[in-house]
Amino acid sequence: MQDRVFHILTFGCQMNVNDSGWLARMLAARGFREGGLEEASLVVVNTCSVREKPELKVKSALGRIRQETAGREVLVCVCGCVAQQLGEKLFGCSPQVRLVAGTDGIASIPGALEELLDHPERRLCLTDFTVRYEERPDALGARVAPSCFVNIMQGCDNFCTYCIVPYTRGRQKSRAHGAVLEECRALLARGASEITLLGQNVNAYGKDKTGDGTSFASLLRQAATLPGLRRLRYVTPHPKDMTEEDVALFGELGPLCPRLHLPVQAGSDRVLKRMNRRYASADFLDLTERLRRACPGIALSTDLIVGFPGETEEDFQATLSLVRQSGFMASYSFCYSDRPGARASLFPDKVPAEEAQERLLRLQALQEELGEAWYRSRVGGSCELLMERPSPRQDQDAPPSWQGRDPWGAPVHVALPEGRDWTGAFVEVRITGAKKHSLLGEATGV
Ligand code: SAH
Ligand code: SF4
Ligand code: F3S
Repeated sequence: MQDRVFHILTFGCQMNVNDSGWLARMLAARGFREGGLEEASLVVVNTCSVREKPELKVKSALGRIRQETAGREVLVCVCGCVAQQLGEKLFGCSPQVRLVAGTDGIASIPGALEELLDHPERRLCLTDFTVRYEERPDALGARVAPSCFVNIMQGCDNFCTYCIVPYTRGRQKSRAHGAVLEECRALLARGASEITLLGQNVNAYGKDKTGDGTSFASLLRQAATLPGLRRLRYVTPHPKDMTEEDVALFGELGPLCPRLHLPVQAGSDRVLKRMNRRYASADFLDLTERLRRACPGIALSTDLIVGFPGETEEDFQATLSLVRQSGFMASYSFCYSDRPGARASLFPDKVPAEEAQERLLRLQALQEELGEAWYRSRVGGSCELLMERPSPRQDQDAPPSWQGRDPWGAPVHVALPEGRDWTGAFVEVRITGAKKHSLLGEATGV
């Protein structure tokens, strides 16, 4: 039989990364081999439409695939959020595209690909939303990575006015808690010790038609007791949905890591209202205080949008002030970008691109300062690392260095004795130095 090689290009959020990982395992289980674009006969493009001009980004990827696979028979599948939005239009972007699968169509991709390989004259477009969370079989190997993601929901009901996600991922659908815990157990049995629960609005888990009566807090409590679980995280929560119990759990559940990514988006109440975020900046600051009381030393990070329609310099100053008061250890910040279909794209008073860009630079300079202060404050402390892999850059004269993560999610580099694969090990370190976005440590227990 012809060697069937696949290649996956992934854009976007951790949900897409998780979906691509699943797809790779399922294709491998069906006898495909993962390889480079230059040898692939099957290429999957898993797309995101949250910021960049979706058509442009995907079209340029499709053009590159055509160039690099010239002269060969290649089947291209476009899936994910852009596929959900553009559907059959994608067939017109490249003759190689024969499968378009939206966000609820991912589970059907392996079967659909086999069918299309057998029938070269066919093409398929799977963009229907399902009513429930679509369970899918998995093909986990004997060992998995030390740190794994587990989906707990699909979609979002919030309709923030700038955001395309409710349209590309559909209405919120919570996954049955039994299925979530079952997947966690399977990963833990194969060597995982850290699990990150994933969703577009995780702390609204259960608050939709397909919820099974389990609240987010209850799901966390159950996950935290699973044998073998050492670290539990979740992303992304919405500030308006953080309950008192969610806050308190940071002080109660041993495995729940002292780190929370909590997107605030803006600091001006006028802008927050127009974004339909449903909290004021004072509510957010109060929430951060309660989190710090429940879990002293908790590290907070966030997402921010600058140049939202109608944002004035005064509004922007409110964002700077909120960022400073919150002391974020990191933030992802972007200029507002129109998403056709999202409500804010119709708002009249757009901020000129240069002005938004200039604000973005000022915001990022402030974040850099806060981030550096946070990393510096860690020097001299001790913590436990979960080792991930050899450090990407090795110093020729020094002993081999490994990269791990501390409970706050910061990458830490540490020299470890040779002759052993440290992946998945827990190592005690003393922090000896800080770089801009990482730390240096010295092993104390090996
Ligand atoms: N569900 C998550 C993530 C949504 S998308 C949440 O609610 O936070 C990730 C980030 O992209 C958002 O937090 C937001 O900061 C940014 N984003 C979304 N739409 C955007 C747009 N139209 N322009 C610029 N940034 C956007
Ligand atoms: Fe988008 Fe808002 Fe939903 Fe996040 S909560 S996915 S920003 S609509
Ligand atoms: Fe992008 Fe879709 Fe995720 S738009 S951020 S891939 S939910």
